[in-house]
Amino acid sequence: LISIAHEAGDLNDFRAILGNDIAIKAYREGEQPFPDGTIIARLAWSYGPSEENNKVFGREQSFVAGAPINIQFIVKDSRKYAATGGWGYAQFNDGKPADEVVHKTCFACHQSAKARDFVFTRYAP
Ligand code: HEC
Repeated sequence: LISIAHEAGDLNDFRAILGNDIAIKAYREGEQPFPDGTIIARLAWSYGPSEENNKVFGREQSFVAGAPINIQFIVKDSRKYAATGGWGYAQFNDGKPADEVVHKTCFACHQSAKARDFVFTRYAP
């Protein structure tokens, strides 16, 4: 596990950011750019109050992950994905790959994290 986050606004989701061993090692050792073979996944679920838990608290206090929204991956291969900062981008909705239009948006936006090898998430120790 690299981190967890809640996006408010239109997205209103709850997300977990996971990494393979190469990713976790690079994060822990502050190795950047990330080495080839790094895989980082971002899993998003809907975010909402838990009726069950809130009965215990007597007020709206507990918010939990609900239905899955989508999964995104970035895979580091500096040769294969040289045109996009060394990262391959993929999104799956309901187990199916998202269309090309969606995939065209990834690198353009991740450009703003260029100083951190195009990765936004920081390691939550
Ligand atoms: C509008 C900007 C934007 C677009 C478009 C976008 N991302 Fe991101 N992405 C972000 C931001 C900001 C974060 C970190 C914030 C968060 O997840 O809470 C992030 C996080 C991620 C992460 C976790 C690692 C990291 O960089 O923090 C992955 C994996 C990811 N995005 C993949 C994708 C893929 C695949 C696409 C295209 C299908 C995509 N993103 C499109 C802005 C964007």
